[in-house]
Parts: sequence; structure tokens; C-alpha cells
Amino acid sequence: MENRSQWGTRAGFILAAVGSAVGLGNIWRFPSVAYENGGGAFFIPYLFALLTAGIPILIMEFTMGHKYRGSAPLTYRKMHKKSEWIGWWGVLVAFTISTYYSVIIAWAISYSIFSINLSWGEDTESFLFNDYLQNTVDVGQTGSLVPGVFIPLIIVWLLVLGILFRGVKKGIEIANRIFIPTLLVIFLIIVIRAVTLPGAIVGLESFFAPDFSKILSPNVWVAAYGQIFFSLSIAFAIMITYSSYLPKKSDITNNAFITGFGNSSFELLAGIGVFSVLGFMATQSGVAIDDVVAGGVGLAFVVFPKIINEFPAFSELFGFLFFASLVLAGLTSLMSITETYVAGLVDKFKISRTKAVLFGGGLAAVVSFLYASQGGMAFLDAVDYFINQFGVAFVGLIEVILVAWVLRKVGEFKDHANGISDIRLGSWWTISLSIITPLVLGYMMFGLFKQNLLKEFATENGNYEGYADTFILYSGWFVAAAALIIGILISLTKWKKSEKAYADTESKEVN
Ligand code: ALA
Repeated sequence: MENRSQWGTRAGFILAAVGSAVGLGNIWRFPSVAYENGGGAFFIPYLFALLTAGIPILIMEFTMGHKYRGSAPLTYRKMHKKSEWIGWWGVLVAFTISTYYSVIIAWAISYSIFSINLSWGEDTESFLFNDYLQNTVDVGQTGSLVPGVFIPLIIVWLLVLGILFRGVKKGIEIANRIFIPTLLVIFLIIVIRAVTLPGAIVGLESFFAPDFSKILSPNVWVAAYGQIFFSLSIAFAIMITYSSYLPKKSDITNNAFITGFGNSSFELLAGIGVFSVLGFMATQSGVAIDDVVAGGVGLAFVVFPKIINEFPAFSELFGFLFFASLVLAGLTSLMSITETYVAGLVDKFKISRTKAVLFGGGLAAVVSFLYASQGGMAFLDAVDYFINQFGVAFVGLIEVILVAWVLRKVGEFKDHANGISDIRLGSWWTISLSIITPLVLGYMMFGLFKQNLLKEFATENGNYEGYADTFILYSGWFVAAAALIIGILISLTKWKKSEKAYADTESKEVN
């Protein structure tokens, strides 16, 4: 019988879980999402989503992984034969995310190098789109491969797959033990520098100043839930996979709280750092904060290089540290995203870890080349939006409905977690999973479908970002639907090992 890999220590698991959670989402996504959705007022939906969905689902996924000891598809199958497809759906959502996540890390590698002599120059926007990404083709066209993106992308995949080859304890755990403390030190240096810059306070005021008029808008709640799910790495197979490597004696609930609060603290720290430098920039150029804030790609790769140019001293060093922190945070998350399909392939097809890394990781790497093309940016943007809204959030909704209402497992899971954890789960957990999260997420998904199908965006075509219908159809809807359909198809294929054998692995303790 197969010996399931295991984390070497409790700290090793926690570092890996925090490493998965803390990623591009914290540094690159959170600050602008919070700002666009009411600044200080955003913290109310954010905290609500964290406490009623994020941490409860994290505890649930840790419990599932620990109890059933399998990759996401195997865990769902052990829970109920007919629910394996949800595991594959999550895995395919993770696969899709890994294909473009790797590309953003590749950009950050290039920018770490550019920062050495600030080679992005004064017009950082033109540098990003014209010089670096060579984005001169129309939306929907690929153009040719851009070597400046392609080469670091190959490095990203070699690093991540190299670590995964070495396994859970010798690869993922060791890498996180090195990367996460390094990331924390680098990030603290950046944040301390940021808050001591002239004008930092202006940025912080606008970050924390609540705009209560926004809090009733459903979109703000969608943004809060979306941020929590992506940031905590829940509902796309990751945390089930990681917790399946826990030893029998593990404190589930405590580990989930440490991971959840650790991730949110980092997120807050990133927000403080980012808004301090934006305040500095606004003060330097005598403009309002609104004029310097930009979301996503724009913030990290356009606004930041511009601000770094203006730093009073050591611009090159701070530029390097900032982009290196993106690389480290991104790599530890990409390892966890990729591990979902490596583990799924090993369990289902009984192939060796090496083969699964080569096949799964190799395929993801090949798909990722699309985003390293001249037209890659538009594809990345559309796929990111659709796979998050109609992948991650949707998997989350189906997951809680299945566990709480179809299979009615909440009580059993609560007993399992309470049996091995210091903190005891009470009605807060049950109510969050069975009532609050399905209701809020259900309402959210209904609103999202409506908004996208009726094209309610205030843009040229009424589509997300004003993209043309055909482009939205194949780069958005098609990709999100493919994750579900391919997931169902894989779940219909036969398992390589007899059911009895894998059911037995549940009770076998491996040390
Ligand atoms: N949790 C990871 C992030 O925040 C995926 O980027």
C-alpha cells in the first residue's frame, strides 16, 4: 500500500499553508481592492467574509484533508462516491490559475532585474506595455512569444517543478522554511521604509478613511468574498491537498486560525505599505491619492516603478526588494496550486510523483506560454476574472451546500476537528457553514451571473472591461465552463486501484 507523504513538523505545515495563502493576492490585489471598495469601510465586509466564510471553510477543508487523507478528488470521493467531480473541478480551477499566476511571477523576476538600474525609465506605463510586454497586437490575437517574459517563465517552472519533484517534506516544506521568513524580513524592511516616507500619512488616511456609502453595494461584498477565497487559497483544492499530508495528531482548528489571521495580517501590512508609498507619490507630485491609485497590474508594474524612481535614497535596492518579495510570495503559492493536480494525478492514475509533476506541471507550463505572447495580457485579464468569479467562488458555494445540506457532514466534521484540536468548534462554525455562507454566496453568484449575462458593466460593450462578445465567450465563459466539464469527465474515468485499497488508506497511519 502506498505511503502517503507527510509534513515533517507542525511548523512546516503552518509555514506551507501560510506560504500558500500569502501570495500575489496579498501584495498585488488586496490594497487596490480595499481602496476601490470603500477603503476603511471595506474592512467590515472583509472581516465578515473572513469570520463567516474564510476561516470556517479553511477549518472544513483542513478537516476533510486530514480525515480522508487524499488529494481533493480522492477526498471528495471518499466523502461520497458521486462527489468526486467537485474535487476535479477545484483542481482544474487551480490548474487554470497556475497557468497565468506563473506569468506574473515571471514579470516580477524581470522587474527585479530592471530595478538594478531602474531601466523602466520615466514613462513606466509605456515601458511595461511597449518595451517589456511588446503588447502591440489587438485583443484576442497572440502575436509571437516575448523572450523577456518567456525566459523568466521557464525559470519559474523549473524552480517550482524542481521543488515539487523533491516531495512534500524535502521539497515544499524546506522551500517554505526558507522563503517565508525571508519574505517576512524583506517585507518588514519595505513597510518600515514606506511608513517613514514624507506624505505616507496622506496615503494611510485614504486607505483607512471609511466610505460608508459603498458598504451596501452588493459588488463590495462580492469583492470581499472573492478576496478572502483567493487569498486564503480555499475552494480550489489547495488546502484539502496540503492538510492531507498532516499527521494523525494535528491541531486542525488552531492551525486554521494561525493561517487565516497570519494571512490577513500580512494583507493588512501590505495595504499599509502600499498606501504609504502612494501617499508619498501623491504628495511629491501634488496630486490626489485617487490619481495615483491603480488596480492589479497597473499598481505593481506601472505605479510602483514610478514611485521607486522618486525614492529619496536607495531606489534600486527598494525596487529590487519589492519585486523580490512578489517573486517569493508568488513562488510559495504557485507550489501549492501546482501540488493540487500533482496529488490528484498520483491518486487517481497511480503514477509516480515524478511522472505527475512532469505531466501536470509540464502541461501547465505549455499552456502558460500563451500569456507570454504579445497579446497575453488580455487573455490573462479575462481568464483571471472568470476563473475567480465562476471558478473559485462557485466551487466554494457548491462545496458548502454539499457538505452542509446534501451530505449533512457538518456535525461529523465538527466532532473530528474537536477530537484533535484545542479550540472547540461551536455553533458559530455550524451556522456560518450551513446558513450564512450558502445564503451570501448564493446571492452573490446569482448577482454575478446576472451582471455578466445581461452585460451590466458600465463599459463599451457592457462586458467585463468592455471586451468584445466573442473574446469574452472563449477566454472567459469557455475557460470557466471547461474547468467544470473536464472535471466531470475525469471523474467518470476509472480509478487505477481497487476502491477497498484506497478506502483503507484512510485508517492507516503513516509515519
Ligand atoms: N492565496 C494565493 C494568493 O493570495 C493564491 O495569491
